[in-house]
Amino acid sequence: MFEVGIIGLGYIGERHLKKFSELKQVNIAAIADKDSQKLRKYADMYPAAGHFVDYRLMCGTKRLDLVVICLPNHLHTEACITALNAGHHVLCEKPLATSVAAAERMISVASSNKRILCVAMNFRWDFFGPDIFSLKRIIEEGGLGTLYYIRMKYLRRVTFSPSGAHRWNLFKKFSGGGALIDLGPHMLDLAMWLADNYDPMSVKGLAYNGLIKYADVDDFASGFISLGSGIDIQLEVAWSCHNEPLWEISLFGEKGGANVSALKPPGDRVKLYSNHEDQPITLPLEKEVHAICEGASLQEHVVTRLNARRIPDCSADKALQVMRVIEAWYRSSKSRTERFL
Ligand SMILES: NC(=O)c1ccc[n+]([C@@H]2O[C@H](COP(=O)([O-])OP(=O)(O)OC[C@H]3O[C@@H](n4cnc5c(N)ncnc54)[C@H](O)[C@@H]3O)[C@@H](O)[C@H]2O)c1
Repeated sequence: MFEVGIIGLGYIGERHLKKFSELKQVNIAAIADKDSQKLRKYADMYPAAGHFVDYRLMCGTKRLDLVVICLPNHLHTEACITALNAGHHVLCEKPLATSVAAAERMISVASSNKRILCVAMNFRWDFFGPDIFSLKRIIEEGGLGTLYYIRMKYLRRVTFSPSGAHRWNLFKKFSGGGALIDLGPHMLDLAMWLADNYDPMSVKGLAYNGLIKYADVDDFASGFISLGSGIDIQLEVAWSCHNEPLWEISLFGEKGGANVSALKPPGDRVKLYSNHEDQPITLPLEKEVHAICEGASLQEHVVTRLNARRIPDCSADKALQVMRVIEAWYRSSKSRTERFL
C-alpha cells in the first residue's frame, strides 16, 4: 500500500483525505492537526490512521510514502522541511511558500534529501478538467499554431463577508497576501502549463484592496506577464468585486484559439475557434483523457508518478517560477513599474 499522512485537517485537508482515501492503492496512515477536536473527528472516521497533535512527531515516527501539507501559508516552509528531512516525499498546498527565498530553501532541502517536493495544482483536474487535458494535447500537436497570448480571469463576487471575517487568509503575516497569492498560483500555473513555458521574464502588476477594507491584503489584482517563449499572459483575480463572476481562460494562437470556462459542466468547457469554421466547436471529451493526465485526480496523478519514481507534473521547480511572478507582481504594484525577472 501507498502510505499517506496528512497535516492540517481544515477545508482543503478534508478534501485531500477524501480523494486519497478513494484510491484503492492508498492507505491513510496518519493525520495531524493542532486542533484536538478536529483531530478526534477524523480519527473516528479513519480509525486505522495514527493521529497526532504535533506533526513533527508524525513525520518522525511514521513510515510514509507521502506527506500532504494543508496548513496555512506561513507554515508551509517549516512543515515541508520537517517532512523532507524525515525522509518523506511531500505534496504541499499552494502557494509553495510566502516568498521566493523560502521556496528556494524548500527545494534545496528536498534535493539534499533526494526527496520529491510537489505542489497541489488541482485546478487542471477539479475545475477545468478533464476537458483541459484534451486541449493541452491539441496545443502540443500544433492545432492552435503558435500561441501568442493567454488571457485568464478568476473573478469572484464575494469570498469573505464585506462586513468582516476572521480567517488567517486575511492577515498578511499568515497568508503572504490576498487574492493574488491565493488564486494566482493556480491560474499562473495553468497559463504556463498550457504555454509549456515556465520561464517568466517580466511582470507589470497591480494589486488593490478594493472592497475588503478591514484586511491588510489585496482582494483584486491585475497583471501582465511576458514569458521567455514570447507568449504574453494577462491575468485578473478577485476575491470580491462588483462585477460578473468569471473563471475562464482564452488562448490566442496563429491557427486557432480556445475559450475554457470552469463555470461550464465537464464535456462543455472548451470552445475552439479557427478560420475553418464560422462557429466555435465544443471540444469533445476524449474517452482516454485520463491516460493523458495519468490519473483522474491530482491525488491519483501524484501517487501514480511517485510509484513509478517519476516527478509529478506539478513540481516545486514550477511552483517556484509561479512564486517569482507573484513576488515580482507585488513589488511591481508597490513601485508601479514593470519588474524584470
Ligand atoms: N488547492 C486548492 O484548491 C486550495 C483550496 C483552499 C485552500 N488551499 C490551501 O490549503 C492551505 C490550507 O487552507 P485551508 O483553507 O484548508 O485552511 P484551514 O484554516 O481551513 O485549515 C488549516 C488547518 O491547519 C490546522 N493547523 C494550523 N496550524 C497548525 C499546526 N501548527 N499544526 C497542525 N495543524 C495546524 C488548523 O487547525 C486547520 O485545521 C492553504 O495553503 C491554502 O492556500 C488550497
